[in-house]
Amino acid sequence: MNPVLHCPFTVCDRLLEECEEKIIIVDFHAEATGEKKGLAYWLDGRISALFGTHTHVQTADEQILPGGTGYISDVGMTGPIQSVIGVRPEDAVQMMRSRMPMRLRFAEGPCRLNAVLFCVDEKTGKTAQVERIQL
Ligand SMILES: [Fe+2]
Repeated sequence: MNPVLHCPFTVCDRLLEECEEKIIIVDFHAEATGEKKGLAYWLDGRISALFGTHTHVQTADEQILPGGTGYISDVGMTGPIQSVIGVRPEDAVQMMRSRMPMRLRFAEGPCRLNAVLFCVDEKTGKTAQVERIQL
């Protein structure tokens, strides 16, 4: 995590003190799956669900944590299948090899949709079912 950012654990605690909603969903935009899972356990039972974003690669670790919080480390990406996180592969490789900034072009072709479906009990705010979706 970028050290100039505030601690997500502390920020979530403060936000939850102010929040009166029963159903709370957290999108944790972060790099490491371990960090995402750690925050999910920290919030387990206090939020309905937490899903990770940023890697663009859907993980297969969807679950309901012991306190009733739905979880997946990364929901994935919706975009072109033949791409490097949505970018034309030749552009991505050229930038990686040259280590120089360049204009990246969107890839084209058939797309994949990644998503996650959390079924949340409105009365308890807890996740009853979680389903990973890939179309
Ligand atoms: Fe990102």
